[in-house]
Amino acid sequence: MIRLIDVKKDLDQVCEIEDICFKDGHYNRDQINYEVNNELSKFYVYEEDDKILGFLIYMITFNSATVVQLATHPKYQRKGVATKLFNEMINYLKSLGYGEIETITLEVRSNNEIAHQFYLKNGFKDTLLKKKYYSNGDDAYYMTRILL
Ligand SMILES: CC(C)(COP(=O)(O)OP(=O)(O)OC[C@H]1O[C@@H](n2cnc3c(N)ncnc32)[C@H](O)[C@@H]1OP(=O)(O)O)[C@@H](O)C(=O)NCCC(=O)NCCS
Repeated sequence: MIRLIDVKKDLDQVCEIEDICFKDGHYNRDQINYEVNNELSKFYVYEEDDKILGFLIYMITFNSATVVQLATHPKYQRKGVATKLFNEMINYLKSLGYGEIETITLEVRSNNEIAHQFYLKNGFKDTLLKKKYYSNGDDAYYMTRILL
């Protein structure tokens, strides 16, 4: 089941997934809490049997949406969890009305092949390579998907 985050109930599990999934530059508890309270952000969790298996944070600004963070617990990867979270986002953005949100954008480390594959499969295209985008010097693909 996908629902909006309930911070009291879910924060520990979300932070655990974040810690396991992201070795470089992961969000700490305060940053995750910030996103929960950010009016522009939407924060979904995917839950099964009271366990959080994955989460998605995205932000809406004017006529575009930006993927902020996406992760599936390693034990439950490649079972469609992130796809379901993504579809929830797409359906929500489309429900806002034709033309309301025109594009979805994101940055992904150019060496994160799995996430890159995931985004390509979900209709994103490499628009730009941002050299040394991350603090450790990694490059990022700037990817975009037209929603219209
Ligand atoms: C990227 C990530 C969120 C995908 O989550 P997931 O729940 O496993 O994704 P899904 O099961 O919905 O996969 C959908 C598609 O993505 C691609 N994909 C997912 N895992 C893959 C893998 N290990 N190898 C190659 N392609 C993969 C495939 O195209 C897959 O479709 P298929 O299974 O029909 O071939 C997950 O691997 C993850 O949490 N990675 C670590 C955190 C991260 O890098 N997040 C992205 C930050 S930008």
